[in-house]
Amino acid sequence: MAKSKLDGLKDYTVIVADTGDIEAIRHHKPQDATTNPSLIYKAASMPEYAPLVKEAVEWANMHCKANDKLLDLIIVRLFVNFGAEILKIVPGRVSTEVDARLSFDIDGSLKRAREYIALYEEKGVEKERVLIKLASTWEGIKTAEILEKEGIHCNMTLMFSLEQAVAAAEAGATLISPFVGRIMDWQKVKTKKDVIPASEDLGVQSVESIYNYYKKFGYKTQIMGASFRNIEELLALAGCDLLTIAPNLLDELKNATGEVPRKLDPAKSKLQSINKIAVDEKIFRRELCMNEMAADKLYDGIRGFTKDTIKLEELITKTYNLKSDTGKSL
Ligand code: E4P
Repeated sequence: MAKSKLDGLKDYTVIVADTGDIEAIRHHKPQDATTNPSLIYKAASMPEYAPLVKEAVEWANMHCKANDKLLDLIIVRLFVNFGAEILKIVPGRVSTEVDARLSFDIDGSLKRAREYIALYEEKGVEKERVLIKLASTWEGIKTAEILEKEGIHCNMTLMFSLEQAVAAAEAGATLISPFVGRIMDWQKVKTKKDVIPASEDLGVQSVESIYNYYKKFGYKTQIMGASFRNIEELLALAGCDLLTIAPNLLDELKNATGEVPRKLDPAKSKLQSINKIAVDEKIFRRELCMNEMAADKLYDGIRGFTKDTIKLEELITKTYNLKSDTGKSL
């Protein structure tokens, strides 16, 4: 039987499932899985995962103390419930995202990340199997720097520029998720084109430049391409350390046959002439401001994940008829 493109891709790249749908993960058997607030909102709205939501509400009601916000506790527990179920299926790691509203709050993000890890540990999941996902703001990257020193591994998300990637690597982040499709979405709007081939795709080019930079200078931080719109983008990045892929695109890759030539290769990156760049806070903020696409997409991403977290909170509030009462605020 001819080899599928998914198997061809697996020759050079670790395949990760990008979904909160546990059954889809069981079906595709990836090494790792990634979730985000939009994916958890979608999964939590499905009747089959209602027991995970119910448990989170009951647990939070039992553990809510005077200064806690009940909904924060529910969301934290729910994200861990999904992550722990996913880890019963995948042999590797799961990524669990910190509330996007904390994207500019180092202390708040540290607290949230440590809460996730404590809850995972209570469920018997060791921290090596969890990646705390943080937005690639300056504050998110500084949060990762502190967490990594505590042995808590981080996945830097909402990444759209080389400066974000360099700052994340210098901070010692375990993994980065440079987004591809959202950059292409932006390119389509800007160029008023409906179709962008992979050869002109600015999202693909963004991952290529980050990959070449990291491999040229020997950074250990793993690169996981994320946010894909079609399989051409994925095949153009064959050889990337990891790729996180939504179930519909995993199906497409499984059903396609043919050679998958390696596109990204550390040996080739090492031969490239690339200048090293220094990224401190001032340079990070200035370059982000000057990069219209990266600034638009970073802030748009934070707004989007915030909106979906609020929708999830509203869904839970309505379903469980939650009200502030003595000692408990929502
Ligand atoms: C995974 O880490 C990302 O959150 C995900 O790939 C984003 O994908 P999207 O751009 O399709 O929302």
